Amino acid sequence: MTQGITYTNCVGEALDSTLSNIDHNKTFVVADENTARLVVTRLGSNALAEAPVITISAGEESKNLKTLAHVWTQLSDLGATRNSIIVNVGGGMVTDLGGFAAATFKRGIRFINCPTSLLAAVDASVGGKTGIDFNGLKNEIGAFTMPQQTIISSCFIDTLPQPEIKAGYAEMLKHALLHSHDRFTQLLKTDFNNPFNTHAFLKMIEQSVAIKLHYVDSDPLEAGTRRALNLGHTVAHAFESLALKRGKAIRHGYAVIWGLITETYLSHKLFGFPSADLYALAQFAIEHYGAFHITCDDYETLISFMTHDKKSQNGEINCVLLSQCGSPHYDAAITTDLMEAAFDVYRDLMHI
Ligand code: GLY
Repeated sequence: MTQGITYTNCVGEALDSTLSNIDHNKTFVVADENTARLVVTRLGSNALAEAPVITISAGEESKNLKTLAHVWTQLSDLGATRNSIIVNVGGGMVTDLGGFAAATFKRGIRFINCPTSLLAAVDASVGGKTGIDFNGLKNEIGAFTMPQQTIISSCFIDTLPQPEIKAGYAEMLKHALLHSHDRFTQLLKTDFNNPFNTHAFLKMIEQSVAIKLHYVDSDPLEAGTRRALNLGHTVAHAFESLALKRGKAIRHGYAVIWGLITETYLSHKLFGFPSADLYALAQFAIEHYGAFHITCDDYETLISFMTHDKKSQNGEINCVLLSQCGSPHYDAAITTDLMEAAFDVYRDLMHI
């Protein structure tokens, strides 16, 4: 099923129009405590004026079975039926958990995503991955279920602090690397120190989401080509796990750009990815993201995280790599020696 995306600067109108085209009885909103207070009340949607708001705690640590049970309970107590619809308003945690609540309640009810973060707009709210964390493992329980519609609104993007924009922008860079050299170099021209033209930025988001949808449509259940969207993520997840172990979490999007640098070096070594593009990406990261600090004492831990990663097969480290922008190679097995060399190069490039 191809999912619909609306790009708008007026989310209330877009929601009203979407809901008026879907036959349903009741509408429920799922939001976290922040978006319930600051966003839902200001959406300007007539259709949602009377809709019950199911509020959950904010933060990744709430993406669990207890919160999910709370949403199921509320839906049940408030009389949701198979013909009801959920509107998820929030970042990726809300769209993942609210989507999974919808996918499982009464064997599945429909849902609409209204992402309020850039990361959710360009990634989590698009493509049908829903789920919760379980047993200490991220997204361990979940389902592929497409939203009826994702409504991406520039009015949320306008209000985001710069680190939030940068975090989402890293996934846009990943999409650009998977698309073409032109798109990649175009994205590297962004200067976060200058104010954005919102209209032009919404257009860039639209182009980025189109790249994701290309991979999702060709392989909705991630049996093959969709795995390209994991570019940069083998290393990114290891950096995030190391940061957690050190007691100081890092933003997923920032981990993604550092992961992309390391994995484009691997791409250069194994598939001839142009070194000029690797340097350009590293320069962009230094200017706008800074570096994640690692030393050679961290290599063993990082490698152990990677061999236990979901994407790893038979204890091998596996990455998606590129021979050039737009040409992914799947399941490249990386030896420990090569991964250590890649970390050395990452540290050189980031001057750490
Ligand atoms: N976040 C990658 C995907 O949706 O497949």
